[in-house]
Amino acid sequence: MPSDVLHVTIDRANGPESFEVPAYDNQTVLDVVSWVQQNADPTLSYRFACRVGMCGSCAMMVNGVPRWTCRTHVSKVTDGAAIHVGPLRNLPIIKDLAVDMDPFFDKWVAAEGVHHGGLTRDDSIAVVDEGSATRVEANAGIECINCSVCYAACDTVAGNADYLGPAALQRAWTLLNDAKDEGSVAILDAVSGDGGCHNCHSMGSCTLYCPNELDPMSAIAGLKRETAKNFFWRGR
Ligand code: SF4
Ligand code: SF4
Ligand code: FES
Repeated sequence: MPSDVLHVTIDRANGPESFEVPAYDNQTVLDVVSWVQQNADPTLSYRFACRVGMCGSCAMMVNGVPRWTCRTHVSKVTDGAAIHVGPLRNLPIIKDLAVDMDPFFDKWVAAEGVHHGGLTRDDSIAVVDEGSATRVEANAGIECINCSVCYAACDTVAGNADYLGPAALQRAWTLLNDAKDEGSVAILDAVSGDGGCHNCHSMGSCTLYCPNELDPMSAIAGLKRETAKNFFWRGR
């Protein structure tokens, strides 16, 4: 049985709307949003899939902070009385809590964050040295699940719609360090441009809020070093 009532405000197309939701121990923010949709207003739009922090689709603003709602317990973000849920920042809103992820993924492509393969099925499988410094760098960001929490946390994205953002740039860094990827020239060109890595002011909101404890800020610092070196060597 519910032990208490949670006062929930949800940002919707026509403005904030309040609901009273039964409160339970170990209740997540996604549980709360789902309760509203199932019991109070079936027209509420939101997105989720796995409920276990693997798909990245349930990210929303919770009391002003971007979070995976399926892995955020209500007790961790409120004193148990009130909570405010909104759509992820820095992305167009489709409806209510569902945002359009296209700009986020378009920037992965713009940053050349896609594999550039050079081998065919007839070539032998490339040997990867798991202990090499470049592999360590590549592995550091490999667990990114494209949730856009870091993108929503980034003030530079908020002020510059062309900025590629932390996730796309981290992916570019991963591929630049991947011995199996042959796109280094294209990657360095892509991340050196107007919306590229040098826009990052290194304040670290992306790293602070990434629920997977990844460190896009350090990946971007790596890109800054490599693009500077590339500029120097090409200019000689
Ligand atoms: S770096 Fe972290 S916060 Fe950003 S998209 Fe990947 S998993 Fe999400
Ligand atoms: S460190 Fe760079 S990418 Fe990360 S939030 Fe700040 S400006 Fe954005
Ligand atoms: S529902 Fe998949 S990460 Fe939250």
